[in-house]
Amino acid sequence: MIKAVRGTRDLLPPETALWNFVEAAARDIFRAYNFQEIRTPIFEETQLFARSVGEETDIVSKEMYTWEDGTEPADYALYEEWLIRRYPGIGTLERMGPDFSKRKVFGPTLRVHPKGKTSPTVVRFSHRATFQDVHNLTEARERGTGHPSGKPQLLLVTLSATLSESVRAFAKKEGVEIEELTLKDFAPPQSLTLRPENTAGVVRAYIEHKLWERGLNKLFYIGPQFRRERPQKGRYRQFYQIGAEVIGPPSAGSESPARDAELLEMLATFLERLGITDWDLQLNSVGCPNDRAAYNEALRKALEPVVAKMCVDCQRRAVTNPLRVFDCKVPEDQPIIETLPRISQYLDEPCRKHFAQVKDILTFVGVEFQENDRLVRGLDYYTRTAFEFTHGALGAQNAILGGGRYDGLSEALGGPQAPGIGFAIGEDRLVMSLKETADAVQHKPDVYIAPLGDGMNREAARLARELRRRDLIVELGDESFRLKKSFETADKLGAKFTLIVGENEVKSGNFALKNLGTGEQVSVPRSELAQKIQSSR
Ligand code: HAM
Repeated sequence: MIKAVRGTRDLLPPETALWNFVEAAARDIFRAYNFQEIRTPIFEETQLFARSVGEETDIVSKEMYTWEDGTEPADYALYEEWLIRRYPGIGTLERMGPDFSKRKVFGPTLRVHPKGKTSPTVVRFSHRATFQDVHNLTEARERGTGHPSGKPQLLLVTLSATLSESVRAFAKKEGVEIEELTLKDFAPPQSLTLRPENTAGVVRAYIEHKLWERGLNKLFYIGPQFRRERPQKGRYRQFYQIGAEVIGPPSAGSESPARDAELLEMLATFLERLGITDWDLQLNSVGCPNDRAAYNEALRKALEPVVAKMCVDCQRRAVTNPLRVFDCKVPEDQPIIETLPRISQYLDEPCRKHFAQVKDILTFVGVEFQENDRLVRGLDYYTRTAFEFTHGALGAQNAILGGGRYDGLSEALGGPQAPGIGFAIGEDRLVMSLKETADAVQHKPDVYIAPLGDGMNREAARLARELRRRDLIVELGDESFRLKKSFETADKLGAKFTLIVGENEVKSGNFALKNLGTGEQVSVPRSELAQKIQSSR
């Protein structure tokens, strides 16, 4: 039996009603705060996440679903075309099997049945030439055709300028010619990644479509994200986020602390509207690049004497990106991490002021929060305000949502200055914390129509059509069912009424309508059916 892949799952009814309820509530809130929907692709260039979320983060370094795209056999045509252009009258070309497709960065290999003496016999295209390429070529020569002149010639075409001297020397020794091309001569294989989060995609779209022309953008999204994490309750490899981003040029007010406060107030309102009241808002400021430099330096210094006692990941982080030490989950490292300097001591004056204003507005509008200067978040793009909402009932994975400011992200991706702030709610976790309300959001049929006897299916279908047009939820039985079975089915479905459609009813125009809750059965004229059912909603 084929099962859903580990870390993924099917969302089934009746639980899907809860998902729809949450999404509908989110859309209502977004409308009230004037947010509009954005839908970005589910996969993007790997570089996008490496440059935004950060190479050294757990997400990018361990958890992404990444593959090389564009090395399908169809791409052979592209390479053959180039070869024929380069060696007119080269002879017949033979595609050398699927072996190339197993290797991520290699292009196709072609065997040549040459005409001219100058033609190569085997050609291998490689994104970046390696020893393995040269080796594979010589192996192909041993397996493959000899040149009519008896002199084997092989050609390695590299698609990038980086070719090490040692590979070049090895090729020479093996009798392999090398031809160097630039990437633009070909469509090289592209590294793609299933999005682990959606902020990077939104900022990419902001830059690509010059969304600054619209002033301040208030965008929301609902959709799946992918991280190869160890699955457990509340943690999946395909999970869903409901998120929003406020981004625009500084002239549109995108940098203002009022945006941060508005977003946080919106979240508090949203959770309360869903009936979630026991949440905690953890709030911090992680400063700006200036503060970060000084803070990183302080962290490095503080880590120096103790880092040898920490886990290997921390030892690496201490050198490459000390802030990421705070992502460490190893219990033995926690007492050391506890002693490290705090970012709050390193904020410059503008960052301090910004943070103070956010807190002031929140207090004024009555949104409770807890300052937590340990909260650095697991993504590199954050500046200034960073936050998480936690919910006690969720267990170990208690962060129901997280977010923050990312004032330098657009520039880091080659765009204009575009300060922004956003959040993403873990929809799986949100739904989990609402399990008690599951029953209340189920839509049960208003009426179950029971056709009774031959030829009644068509009558029932017509009646169902009339009632559904009046916005009623209608379930249809079948004329082959006995009345007892119809009542049982209606009961199981939780229908409020059963409507009997038999020959007598059709002839008289009066239908037997039974209230399954009270047991009361009345005869109702066809024209009054919808109203009668609606009135008991
Ligand atoms: P994040 O903290 O990585 O932030 O994820 C946000 C939320 O997604 C988490 O608080 C959690 O509820 C949920 N989540 C994350 N990973 C999983 C998982 N494996 N299974 C189930 N739920 C999960 C971001 O993604 C940022 N893009 C948020 C943001 C938007 N910052 C600025 N704008």
